[in-house]
Amino acid sequence: MNQMVARAALRRLIGGRSCSRYLSTSTVAVVRPFEETKAVLWRGHGWGVIGGAEWRRAMSTAAERTSTTTTAPAVEEKDRKEETVAEREKKKEGGEVMVSSYWGISRPKVTREDGTEWPWNCFMPWETYRTDVSIDLGKHHVPKTFLDKVAFRTVKILRIPTDIFFQRRYGCRAMMLETVAAVPGMVGGMLLHLRSLRKFEHSGGWIKALIEEAENERMHLMTMVELVKPKWYERLLVLAVQGVFFNAFFVLYVLSPKVAHRVVGYLEEEAIHSYTEYLKDIGEGKIENVPAPAIAIDYWRLPKDATLKDVITVIRADEAHHRDVNHFASDIHFQGKELRDSPAPVGYH
Ligand SMILES: [Fe+2]
Ligand SMILES: [Fe+2]
Repeated sequence: MNQMVARAALRRLIGGRSCSRYLSTSTVAVVRPFEETKAVLWRGHGWGVIGGAEWRRAMSTAAERTSTTTTAPAVEEKDRKEETVAEREKKKEGGEVMVSSYWGISRPKVTREDGTEWPWNCFMPWETYRTDVSIDLGKHHVPKTFLDKVAFRTVKILRIPTDIFFQRRYGCRAMMLETVAAVPGMVGGMLLHLRSLRKFEHSGGWIKALIEEAENERMHLMTMVELVKPKWYERLLVLAVQGVFFNAFFVLYVLSPKVAHRVVGYLEEEAIHSYTEYLKDIGEGKIENVPAPAIAIDYWRLPKDATLKDVITVIRADEAHHRDVNHFASDIHFQGKELRDSPAPVGYH
């Protein structure tokens, strides 16, 4: 009996060792060449190669193996083999081996349509799009009700300090305003998310639509930051504005989502106006029409020789889409309905 217990303990000890070894080998598995993991094609979008799914399968196999008894020499041989693969991959990549991905989390290898490697982690090819620039930029919601007029006047008043502070420095102005513009979608989406949880009800896609809007606005900001390097006092202003605006908009959305969406609709109308002035200054040569940042070319699928003018044109079209979405959302509320009663414009750009 004692012998059996001793054997079991010894077996467990060996098994434990081999498991910890597998932790180290799994570190290497993340850099296994994707040809070896039979990379799959992202057919839906015609975009490049993704190795993640197949790699995860390799990981689960490794996990299964850990549950079986593996002898130490076999593991050592496996270690050596995996290390060779890692070294080969490291040489190919010309960089450092990726840190452990034992948990199955790794950046899948993605390529562009032309086969070059996808350089962004913050967005993937299937999240990119070509903006519909044919959208009517002149649409305006005429304020009729008292609340509409309050929303309209609020936005007009908010514009005064912005005009005074930035004047015709449209790069700085756009950068600053985008830090604000990305807030309402996130607040609205978050509150609808919480409501959906509280009331056990669907959102009609509006959570996604509003979060998409916030993400789109954040990409505007990431683009503008490439063009305009913010100074320390502008960063300080962003902190102050975000602190005030987030809380103010949160309270407004809780009290009256219809006014909140109307305010955003009018803010977007102002954004269209600002970007139109920006384009006018570029056209008149007051602002240099520099090459478009790489992030903008990939995000909006612009031609490689795209310029600042092209970037501002697509951003302005995005703002027009946001204007329509938010006025539409406000109209739904004004009709005494909930947003979920109307299908959300998910993916509307
Ligand atoms: Fe924007
Ligand atoms: Fe916008």
